[in-house]
This record gives sequence, structure tokens and C-alpha cells, in this order.
Amino acid sequence: MSEKINVLELPIEKQFMKRLVKPDTWILNGFVEDCAAPHPHVVIGDKYAAVVDTTDLPYNVREYVEKCVTDKPLIVLCSHSHGDHTANNYQFEGCPVYCTQICWEEMQASRKNPRPGMEAWATPLNYEPTIIKGGDIIDLGGRQLEVIDFNGCHSASSVAYLDLKYGCLFTGDEFEGGQVLVGGAASKLNSVEFYRDNLVKLRDTVAGRATCICPPHNGSPLDPQTLDNMIENCERIMSGIPGMEDVSSMSYGRNPQSYHNLPFTRDPDEINDGMARLERGKGTALRSEWKGTSIVYNRNRVFLKDLDLS
Ligand SMILES: [Fe+2]
Repeated sequence: MSEKINVLELPIEKQFMKRLVKPDTWILNGFVEDCAAPHPHVVIGDKYAAVVDTTDLPYNVREYVEKCVTDKPLIVLCSHSHGDHTANNYQFEGCPVYCTQICWEEMQASRKNPRPGMEAWATPLNYEPTIIKGGDIIDLGGRQLEVIDFNGCHSASSVAYLDLKYGCLFTGDEFEGGQVLVGGAASKLNSVEFYRDNLVKLRDTVAGRATCICPPHNGSPLDPQTLDNMIENCERIMSGIPGMEDVSSMSYGRNPQSYHNLPFTRDPDEINDGMARLERGKGTALRSEWKGTSIVYNRNRVFLKDLDLS
């Protein structure tokens, strides 16, 4: 057996790898054993550089970005509130942070009352964010990002960001290449039909403008064509073709000991239940795969009429 490497003992430039997805657009891979970890993207303009999702990588993301990626002043963009995307915001003290109102409220709530086992995500909120909404433009100097409302099905706090210069579309967890989880109870808008409608709206909004999709967990950069594949996937479910009961995935929960080495462990039941914590034990989650896309949804929430929107 080879010796386990303590990544934190390595020089900062060896704790990450960076990969170019478009000019002045990087994705950062932290060296962790858990392949479910999200990856920050760095979008560089003439005046500022944006870190899209600081993630919960157990390393100093800011130090790596400043030393190895860009010397531009940094801003932080949040795709949604979940701790694996926002826990490291605190590292960027003094940098402007952008998020939706719901995102800010959810971040505050999750720090006040962290879910058991997720205390590592309850990092200090040492900033007052700039609240954004659909249609806002974030100007990095010679490179603008348009905020796109998402009516999130994965998280009510979600927005997407469209880079108007090179066409990168940052979708957070609402759309990605491994699996999109829409079945949880966290968002009330989580029916397959609602999600399909969101994707149709997104596809029409970015048509002719998005050249690639940059999700934080899996697959960045994806071809925008994959939006059509996922729309078809949703419509198959709505036509009565059910997903599979095995909702584990290639990238979720493969490693029973998470990269935090904290009490955040995953038991075997959970590993076999990729839809995970939200629906565990209820037997409601199904996975549908189609043309390279994968959606994990609640079998009782396929149509809009299944939702309790009161
Ligand atoms: Fe998420």
C-alpha cells in the first residue's frame, strides 16, 4: 500500500490542478479522495476575477487563486447556498460576495443550525453580500456576466451566470454532467415537470449565446446540446417511463470517509442511496438516465400538480 499523502503539507501550488475551459476561464481541481467534491471556476476580466463557488475543499482556495491563477482583485459568486459550494467564502474576507436573497437567508440559517454531520460547512459569514437577481450584470471589466434566474429545483437559492464574452454558462447544481438531484424536499419546486420547464426557459434564454456549460461537480465544460438531452430525459419520465431504483452514482458517495476527515461520514446505506440524505429511507427516489444525462427525482413529484405550492 502506498503511503497516504497529507495534501495540506504540500506547497499550495501542489494542492490543486487548474485546467483551462475557455480563455481566461479556469476550473480548479483540489486533490481530494472524494470525487463528489465540487470545483471552483475562476473567470478573469480586465479589472476583476470572479471565483464561482468557493466550495468546501479543505484547502486555501484563495491562496491558490492569488498565487497560481490571477493577480486581479477577486469577487465571489455563489450559484446557490449549499455548504459544499459556499463554505470557503470566509477565506475571501474583504472581497465582494454576490448571491440571491434566498441564498443569503439559507446560508445564515445553515450556520445557525447546521445539519448534524455538516458542522464543517458552518464557516463564519464574515461578509455582507451584494444581493443579485435575474437580469443583473456583473462587470469584470471587458467581460460581463448576466445573472439568470433559475426557479431552482435543486435549491430554491439557485441562479446561473452567463459569461457574455465567451459564452460560459455557470449552472451550479441545477444542471450538470453527473447527476442533477431534484427530488429532495429542500425546494418546493422540485417536480420533474417544473424542472423541464426551467430547462426549456434556460435553453431559450441562452440560445446562440452559451458555448459551454460549466457545472461545479461533474463534466465542465459540457456542450449546451446536453440541455436538450436532459429535457428529453424529463419528458420520458413524464410520459410514464420510470427511472431506476438504484440511485447511486459514479461520483456520489464512493468514498465512505469524506475528504473532511470529520464526522461527515457516509454509511453503506447512504452510499447506495445517492439521492441521499434528503430522501433516505423513504424509497421515493428514482434515477433516470438518457443520452448521457442523469436526473434523480422523487417518484411522487413528477408533475406540477403533485406539488404542494400552498
Ligand atoms: Fe447543491
